Amino acid sequence: MRPDEGKPYYTAYDKRYRSVYEQGADRYACIPEEEKIRGIIRKYVKQFELTGKKVVEFGCGEGWAGLEFAKLGSIYQGYDIAPSALEKASALLSEYMNANICLQDVVLGEFPVEAFDAGIDISCLHMFITDVDRKKYLGNVYKCLKPRAPMYFVHESCRDDIYGGEVTSYEQWLELTGEDVDTPQERGALKNGEEITVMIPCIAARPRSEKGYREELVAAGFEVVELERHTWGINILTRKL
Ligand SMILES: C[S@@+](CC[C@H](N)C(=O)[O-])C[C@H]1O[C@@H](n2cnc3c(N)ncnc32)[C@H](O)[C@@H]1O
Repeated sequence: MRPDEGKPYYTAYDKRYRSVYEQGADRYACIPEEEKIRGIIRKYVKQFELTGKKVVEFGCGEGWAGLEFAKLGSIYQGYDIAPSALEKASALLSEYMNANICLQDVVLGEFPVEAFDAGIDISCLHMFITDVDRKKYLGNVYKCLKPRAPMYFVHESCRDDIYGGEVTSYEQWLELTGEDVDTPQERGALKNGEEITVMIPCIAARPRSEKGYREELVAAGFEVVELERHTWGINILTRKL
């Protein structure tokens, strides 16, 4: 799926959410994946004692991870660029005084300095295609975390055979990979808790190799603490140096 005319390529997700809702779904979700990540969040909160601590999520989407942090007693702040998804997140988190979400571009936005005790990114980093956008994003992540704060990159697309050179534009990436971002394909979504099928095109994403992630995160000022591969992706636990 391509973004709306004149908007940055990474706003394509807003268009995707809107299309999914227009097709009758009330959430764009993959329940088995969410279940696994909820387990990861519970472990993260326990390991770093994040109850009562300030946790930031970049690319929070519909807010389901925020709900988990809020239930576990963290003081949660979610950022996303998609108004469509934030409307859902806002409804989901409305009962929780310790949860807040904000419409913000995590690449170009301004963030508070050393404000958060911990951070999480669930499949957001791989949405950034160009080297410049990735660097700006990771710079913002670095800036708003306290020194030594943990930062968890979860379910990021990982491929060891992927092009590792410089990428300067979205168009260059599409040409390099031949990704089809136009043909609608069947995907699962939810309506009243039941899975339904919707038709949506792929959204371009940029995987890295394991080595590529390591190098990129270290260059951005993070220490890689733990790295775990799964079928199509990787979870990388880091700490701000
Ligand atoms: C793959 S989705 C993951 C959403 C959510 N973390 C989840 O797991 O359901 C990527 C999210 O990143 C958001 N996103 C992409 N570019 C962004 C940007 N520049 N600033 C803030 N959010 C962005 C999208 O709107 C989308 O909600």
